[in-house]
Amino acid sequence: MTVPFQRPRRLRDNAVLREAIAETHVLPAHLMLPMFVADVPEPRPITAMPGVDQWPIPKLVAEIERLVERGLKSFILFGVPDHKDERASGATSEDGIVPRALIAIKKAVGDAALIATDVCACSYTDHGHCGIIEGGRLHNDKSIELLANIALAHAQAGADIVAPSDMMDGRVRRIREVLDAHELTHVPIMSYAIKYASSLYGPFRHAADSAPKFGDRRGYQMDFRNRHDALREALLDEGEGADILMVKPGIAYLDILRDLRERTNLPLAIYQVSGEYSMIKFAAQANAIDERAVTRELWHSMRRAGANLILTYHAAQAVRERWLE
Ligand code: PBG
Ligand code: ZN
Repeated sequence: MTVPFQRPRRLRDNAVLREAIAETHVLPAHLMLPMFVADVPEPRPITAMPGVDQWPIPKLVAEIERLVERGLKSFILFGVPDHKDERASGATSEDGIVPRALIAIKKAVGDAALIATDVCACSYTDHGHCGIIEGGRLHNDKSIELLANIALAHAQAGADIVAPSDMMDGRVRRIREVLDAHELTHVPIMSYAIKYASSLYGPFRHAADSAPKFGDRRGYQMDFRNRHDALREALLDEGEGADILMVKPGIAYLDILRDLRERTNLPLAIYQVSGEYSMIKFAAQANAIDERAVTRELWHSMRRAGANLILTYHAAQAVRERWLE
């Protein structure tokens, strides 16, 4: 018997046919833009992340209104506070930077925009770690009380989603309990469930002023040599009541995203982090790559691996320059 001559190229020859059988799509609805909010007089550019700023509240609101008009509807806020102390007291205050921003945004755009908030302590602590330090170590159970109170302050100010990024054990459960006790049962938790201790967060720590002043985050974030530990983390968060699970960083962790896709029925998010953004930006500025083409290709790889939602600093430029049309 002769083997038939297989010609898969037949399906690639015609552009209309290629479009008809494409397996993945990236739409503005799949993108969530991280934004930094601070009490600064004017937008303050982050040199390590060209095109990304720390925004004062009034201009942040105006920028979100413009982006919503362009079709970008999802945002995640990071507060950059003036005041830092040992216990992150600014993070739980109802007149903290994030609650004030939430109130202003919701007043302007209501439910036309989905506003998530990053729930962590590292920008608010003088030591730069993601919780409460006692005796030189991060105290897990005191930290989750703090994180639950941060999530509560955000949800009470109008956050549509709270997203804990600290990697303490049991924090999703504690946040859920505290939200529910305050009649905030409708606010979903998007857990940074699989967050690796990554060198790709470097530019972000300039933007959020959140670098640890001693040590590093390997005592709580995941070891990049491991797969099984990551899946265990994510399934624990699902069991604690997480509504959306996130994998972070993006491009180097698609194997993990894929594994998780096959093990949960929850929606999945992936975070294309600051270092990924800056690598693309600086390579594009040097004319080494085509920024739009490379970014779209990477977003498709994330969707193909199983991401519903992509957190990306390129979302604003993508809708402004109509990259996805
Ligand atoms: C705070 C937080 C970090 C990021 C998101 N939330 C930094 C860190 O864990 O050090 C990283 C985002 C990025 O690099 O774009 N815990
Ligand atoms: Zn943190």
